[in-house]
Amino acid sequence: MTQVKKICCIGAGYVGGPTCAVIALKCPHIQVTIVDLNQNRIDAWNSDELPIYEPGLDEVVKEARGRNLFFSTDVDKGIAEADLIFVSVNTPTKKSGIGAGFAADLKFLQLATRRIAEVATSPKIVVEKSTVPCRTADSMRTILEANHRPGVTFDILSNPEFLAEGTAISDLFAPDRVLIGSLQTNSGKAACAALAEVYGNWVPKDRILTVGLWSSELSKLAANAMLAQRISSINALSAVCEATGANIDEVAYAVGKDTRVGAKFLKASVGFGGSCFQKDILNLVYLAESLHLPEVARYWRAVVEMNEYQKERFSRKVVETLFNTITGKKIAILGWAFKKDTGDTRESPSISIANHFLDEKARITIYDPKVTEEQIWLDLTDEGTKSAEPIKPHISIQKSAEEACKDAEAIVVCTEWDEFKTLDWQKIYDNCPRPAFIFDGRLMLDRAALQKIGFKVTTIGTGDGL
Ligand code: UDX
Ligand code: UDX
Ligand code: ADP
Repeated sequence: MTQVKKICCIGAGYVGGPTCAVIALKCPHIQVTIVDLNQNRIDAWNSDELPIYEPGLDEVVKEARGRNLFFSTDVDKGIAEADLIFVSVNTPTKKSGIGAGFAADLKFLQLATRRIAEVATSPKIVVEKSTVPCRTADSMRTILEANHRPGVTFDILSNPEFLAEGTAISDLFAPDRVLIGSLQTNSGKAACAALAEVYGNWVPKDRILTVGLWSSELSKLAANAMLAQRISSINALSAVCEATGANIDEVAYAVGKDTRVGAKFLKASVGFGGSCFQKDILNLVYLAESLHLPEVARYWRAVVEMNEYQKERFSRKVVETLFNTITGKKIAILGWAFKKDTGDTRESPSISIANHFLDEKARITIYDPKVTEEQIWLDLTDEGTKSAEPIKPHISIQKSAEEACKDAEAIVVCTEWDEFKTLDWQKIYDNCPRPAFIFDGRLMLDRAALQKIGFKVTTIGTGDGL
């Protein structure tokens, strides 16, 4: 059986970076090189200021970096030296062309695959790590076989990553499962065993699942779709709670106690965000449509539609509560990341909510403990494709929650950062005009305590908020 001695990971992002840093930490006998075309990103990985915020990541990188973990922009050298290559590049939803708005854009993946074919002079195990539509491994194999040098062979594996941002390191240390998909040929099974052995250095054997390539690819989409579906289900019920006076936390608690349902992922919210859920469901919708399964496509599309509805409903509620207009009013948004403990803002509900407030001509102050001012501007200008000038007078980005809330007519909590629980709410109240409104989009604040101070509190999923 091939023994993996050198690993190369193409793509030093939220997935490739933490995953391969943990592999290096847990497998000191394997050399791990993470490569990326983006020089700034690689420089950051080689510095004390890592390019992504993830609890516990600094310690992992500090211990392994320079020992058996390396970050480099020399993609070709990384490929040439490795026995096993993770492809962990970005696969965003296509913005134009066939499948725009649904299908994954595989251009980065295909470019990386071509590079492997061109550079490799020895056999490689190529592992797709990025979330991809089903059958991508097949197209990777076609590209590799059509472009490889004589005598060089490739085995393709699918090894989707299930880590969640904010808990990436603990997820990687103790995964619920590691999934490896391979062709059921002798060489496919041998490649699968070689990768399983790498994970076997710290993951118990019964958690390493080996399946066919297509099952592995579909399982990743299915897992994310079903997780997102739970959130849309609970968010749909939160609207019923608000209309009836039931309490969504109580409902979720009661439902979650059924072991067939389980308690996790039933927290009502302003809506789910992140780079995966929406993208993966839309991939599934696109797949179902391509397979002429319109009912299946419609079913999953409803999960995303419910999420859009929830974000919109929350924004509308703010406007209605503030006597049907927020024009010229100052509104504080607390939290810009799509969840706590990450600086990632991809598909963050805060962006949609802020855009809604901007449409209503409100003035917005924003605070997030981990998101940079530069990133917030990128998010508000569609990655810099729209001019910031028209919105500049309406936006101010602050360095603390207190500053952001000063003089605000409404405070809107969008991300569940722990620090929002322990703010000096009395002091904040004293600095707000009356009536002082607070909207808890994460059901995280002590509602009774805030009401005692004098705030008018509206919480998602509770009926008596107004
Ligand atoms: C259900 C609830 O389980 C129970 O808590 C409630 O009090 C009444 O409704 P019941 O309808 O008796 O109970 O049986 P259940 O085991 O839930 O099955 C319902 C249907 O779902 C059956 O047709 C069953 O075959 C089907 N099912 C169940 C599946 O198709 N797949 C499954 O994984 C589980
Ligand atoms: C998700 C999957 O959990 C992970 O397994 C996969 O590898 C990548 O996609 P991630 O997007 O990083 O991970 O975070 P996750 O914790 O799943 O949260 C996604 C979104 O759902 C966040 O906006 C979060 O706030 C929201 N959410 C989550 C809820 O609104 N309620 C919940 O109960 C759980
Ligand atoms: P993810 O959340 O999937 O990890 P990211 O966008 O955080 O996605 O990271 C993907 C990384 O892949 C980016 O840093 C990008 O520069 C890198 N990348 C994309 N294409 C290539 C390529 N052909 N070669 C090397 N790196 C690439």
